Amino acid sequence: MRTQVAIIGAGPAGLLLSHLLAAGGVESVVVETRTREYVESRIRAGILEHSTVELLRSVGLGDRLTREGDQHRGVYLQWPGERHHVDFQDLVGRSVWVYGQTEVQKDLGRARDAAGQQVIYDVRDTAVHDPADPYVTFTVDGAPHRLDADVVVGCDGSFGPTRESVPGTTWQRTYDYSWLGVLATVPPSTDELIYAWHPDGFALNSMRSPTVTRLYLQVPSGTDIAEWPDDRIWDALSRRLGHGQDGWKLARGPITDKSVLPMRSLVQAPMRRDRVFLAGDAAHIVPPTGAKGLNLAVADVALLAPALVSLLREKDPRLADEYSDRALRRVWRCTHFSWWMTTMLHATDDPFDHQLQLSQLRWVASSEAGARGLAENYAGLPIGF
Ligand code: FAD
Ligand code: DHB
Repeated sequence: MRTQVAIIGAGPAGLLLSHLLAAGGVESVVVETRTREYVESRIRAGILEHSTVELLRSVGLGDRLTREGDQHRGVYLQWPGERHHVDFQDLVGRSVWVYGQTEVQKDLGRARDAAGQQVIYDVRDTAVHDPADPYVTFTVDGAPHRLDADVVVGCDGSFGPTRESVPGTTWQRTYDYSWLGVLATVPPSTDELIYAWHPDGFALNSMRSPTVTRLYLQVPSGTDIAEWPDDRIWDALSRRLGHGQDGWKLARGPITDKSVLPMRSLVQAPMRRDRVFLAGDAAHIVPPTGAKGLNLAVADVALLAPALVSLLREKDPRLADEYSDRALRRVWRCTHFSWWMTTMLHATDDPFDHQLQLSQLRWVASSEAGARGLAENYAGLPIGF
């Protein structure tokens, strides 16, 4: 097989890249280890930044998002006894949307079907060869395949193989806590997300739809989900989110999904070697507290697609040569923001940390300058920032 761009991974980065390339007249083939059903039902991110929504709308992917997504003006920041709204719309004129990654993934899949995109699911043994004249090998049902391409893009997420074929520097930070995430069939108890600091640990009250709530609890790394029966989860959420505080109540319902998500920060640079490029989680990972992972993946491919169109159609390498530096500028901004939100909101064993965290939260909630910094980063900087 031969194509212009071989894309490894059919997550949001891979499928959106194939969509944007097709709009620019460049053909691609996507290979993916999982089945389509698995990829479309993986419960992950839920918040789309302003620029992500604008981009999806501008390329014909915004209809269902506009109909079924929920636009939020801001978020609540909370600690015991206090809850403050940070209004992004008032502070920076931008907002965010609640729309699950599962739904983004389905919209992308349908759009690629309609365009006749070749996506090969359920592959094994993916490997990238010869970065200067690249090709990808993989097997399907045990049969070997070779895909030659002008360019290969690794959109294969945090555990994919492409990162290793792009040598460079890797910066990492691990955190000694994880998130226990649950999906529950119960109407959200809040109109907008609540990020709660609590001495027992962080809690987040999010949502997916008028009937489905998404909630997270800080738990120690290495936590076994079996230690957390549903009642224990609801009791911890109620305590940390302030059930009863000023009459507010957390409604409980059946839990339909629960998992423990480890957290880390990782950046690899450069995001390119010769004709092999990296985009999304394949190049960088953020802890989820700032809701940046999916949005960063979208921002990467929004820069990469026009760069590859120029490279392959006009033989102009300038944008492709600039891609890594331009993408990394935003990646490091979001890496800092995600680290800052994470360390401000997650309880540690150190009472000095507690006081610093509370002081920072009070400042963000009460100072317009503080609130604007959070709003600008959370609602998201423009794609070309
Ligand atoms: P991915 O979505 O990971 O897609 C990569 C694709 O490559 C996958 O489909 C994978 O199967 C495929 N692949 C891997 N290896 C190979 C191979 N060898 N050959 C072919 N294909 C391969 N972000 C948030 O903002 N909020 C959240 O709540 C949140 N929760 C998360 C929960 C989990 C469990 C995980 C893993 C991530 C979460 N994230 C969250 C991060 C967010 O989902 C990611 O940043 C986003 O999915 C990145 O998109 P991507 O396309 O770069 O990578
Ligand atoms: C969700 C996940 C996040 O990481 C976050 O910061 C906000 C919301 C969510 O899954 O809804």
